[in-house]
Amino acid sequence: RGAVDMNFDGLPKRAHIREVCPRDGFQSVKDFIPTEKKLEFIEAMIAAGIREMEVTSFVSPKAIPQLADSAEVLSAVKARCGDAVRLVALVPNVKGAERALAGGADCLNYVFSASESHNRANLNRSVDESLAGLADVIALAKGKAELSVSIATSFMCPFEGRTAPARVTDLMGKALDMGADGICLAETIGTCNPLLFSETLAAVRSRFGDYPIYLHIHDTFGMALLNVKAALDLGYSRFDAAIGGLGGCPFAPGAAGNAATEDLVFFLNGIGVETGMDAASLVNVARSLQDYGLRTLGHLVVSSFGREKEGCCGA
Ligand code: COA
Ligand code: ZN
Repeated sequence: RGAVDMNFDGLPKRAHIREVCPRDGFQSVKDFIPTEKKLEFIEAMIAAGIREMEVTSFVSPKAIPQLADSAEVLSAVKARCGDAVRLVALVPNVKGAERALAGGADCLNYVFSASESHNRANLNRSVDESLAGLADVIALAKGKAELSVSIATSFMCPFEGRTAPARVTDLMGKALDMGADGICLAETIGTCNPLLFSETLAAVRSRFGDYPIYLHIHDTFGMALLNVKAALDLGYSRFDAAIGGLGGCPFAPGAAGNAATEDLVFFLNGIGVETGMDAASLVNVARSLQDYGLRTLGHLVVSSFGREKEGCCGA
């Protein structure tokens, strides 16, 4: 693969990737991955070039027993690699925020859903209750960590279908008015096509201009990279992704994994959008997840194409 010095007209020159495998991926694996094993994978991800990572979540261990070791994971990663990576922790409420701050997270990612029924299934509360909690969490985090907001089911809801773009812009406006430092819109179930994806993003752009949001995109129907391209076309360039394509919310039935980080990096580098990362190094980490028995879904890791040929597939 030669160096690319062209780019589609008007695409961002570089993209920023936030790795979410240790949170979204590991929460979706049925069996508990021992803490030391998690740390081994996380360190390999950082060694492969990951510079921002959602490292765990501070939620009820009854809801997500797979991440019951979040305090140990966060503090160990901070001690071992805290200078190399920005550490994000997902939180659903004040208790989670207190625990994530105690562990020294650089950024809290406060989650709630755009749709009432998914918020109820996932967090056992109404969206208004989540918004009230956001105010408390913002006050708590002030001066200690950044506070970003992830709005799940921003495009599609497993129970309600299509989420109206106006609903998303309304919630995003509320979160920013309350003082959130950042916004991530999540395609939680991976069934949204690029037409609908663009419709929502166009509404966001028309209200919030070039405010730089993150996009979190699942790949259930194989449309994640199409939606990434749709986002790039509208100037958005920050993406969540999970090595090996792991991921899925246990409270969103049927959702498969995230956009695979190695596929995303391969795609972006190939079309001239710099990521600062190398797909081959990420594929190696994905293979180690696969060797451990995790069900990886990324195209580069699942395909055997080019494995024997140096340089092919970036691997
Ligand atoms: N961390 C650890 N424990 C927590 C917690 C947190 N952030 N929030 C609540 N708990 C504990 C409480 O202390 C209480 O424990 P107890 O039964 O031993 O007294 C128990 O959980 C119930 O607390 P309550 O406030 O009544 O919560 P709930 O039962 O209404 O559940 C959530 C609400 C948000 C805590 C729960 O639904 C949850 O953790 N959801 C996260 C789901 C998720 O991670 N989805 C995927 C990522 S989007
Ligand atoms: Zn997700």
